[in-house]
Amino acid sequence: MNAAASTVLLTGGCGFIGSHQAVVLLESGHDVVLVDDLSNARADVVDRIEAIAGRRPRFIELDVRRTDAMADVIGDHGVGAIIHFAGLKHVRESMERSIDYFDVNLAGLTSVVRAAERCGVRRLIFSSSGSIYGTAGALVGGAPIVEETMPNPTNPYSHSKWICEQVLERICGVEAGWSVIALRYFNPAGAHPSAMLGEDPTNLISNLVPVLMEAAAGAIDAVPIFGADFDTPDGTALRDYVHVMDVARAHAAALTAVDTAGGFEALNIGRGEGVSVRQLITAAEVAVGRPLAVDVQPRRAGDVPSLVAATDRARKRLDLDDYLPVETILADAWRFRQRRDRPLG
Ligand code: WQD
Repeated sequence: MNAAASTVLLTGGCGFIGSHQAVVLLESGHDVVLVDDLSNARADVVDRIEAIAGRRPRFIELDVRRTDAMADVIGDHGVGAIIHFAGLKHVRESMERSIDYFDVNLAGLTSVVRAAERCGVRRLIFSSSGSIYGTAGALVGGAPIVEETMPNPTNPYSHSKWICEQVLERICGVEAGWSVIALRYFNPAGAHPSAMLGEDPTNLISNLVPVLMEAAAGAIDAVPIFGADFDTPDGTALRDYVHVMDVARAHAAALTAVDTAGGFEALNIGRGEGVSVRQLITAAEVAVGRPLAVDVQPRRAGDVPSLVAATDRARKRLDLDDYLPVETILADAWRFRQRRDRPLG
């Protein structure tokens, strides 16, 4: 079946990347089914997706580990391809809840794959993470990391993603007909240009851009800087921030690619530019129009000094345009934060 004409299932479809993905796919003519257990997302996201895209995705509230129910969803809705976003995603939290992270992320994946196989659906895009490279990123001294680099994850979150990739690669090696692309996102951030969708966690705000927005909005007094003694130009950690709309566009291209690919492949999704915590704070100050107080704290367990993507392979394979700059990421994140009128969940 041609992916361009198929119905796409997004697990974790009410979450940060999933919700933007739904808009991009609906706008390009796909039918979209969202599955989400709403453990870290809001149900009204479905209304906002409809308001932007002009079409409503179907939504089923469900934990992806319920394999029989997942198979019903895939079969009943004529799903042709799956993008598996659902999972736990916070580095620090994973150091305290490692068993939850392995359970949700590994059992979630095998459940989705089993349900898909039962329905004859063997095209999957997997939500992986640039953080799987871990200390391998440090070994290349802040230089962009190519996909051939052997991952060396430093925390249970990243480790769970690396194991998932290995499981998928092995399944593609031994089961007929499977075609999987793992997208290793570096640091997705920003918001939809309408400011109606953005990063809107309900249970924990820990990623740097949302924390910056909380500080800008006055909801926290200072931005914690986790470590100013790294071996980097200004002592703070380098990351590769990429706009969530670019991440969604990369998945849309991967849906076409996975149709003919066969087997397993992994692609980095990042801008290829290292931005330090201090540089990002300065850029955020420009975006929000005022200085932000900072509070230097010890390094966060499980963090590495540098994670920057080598981008050549994904750009060629997915025929991607230039990615949006950090200034747009922060301006869009700020517009979304200002528009959000609810108190934090
Ligand atoms: C970025 C940098 C922190 C908060 C992880 C995943 C990745 C993606 C994003 C899912 C680090 C520092 C942070 C703060 C800080 N996954 N920091 N003060 O850990 O690079 O990536 O989240 O969402 O796949 O691996 O992202 O935004 O948490 O941290 O100084 O208040 O900012 O130490 O150096 P990370 P992050």
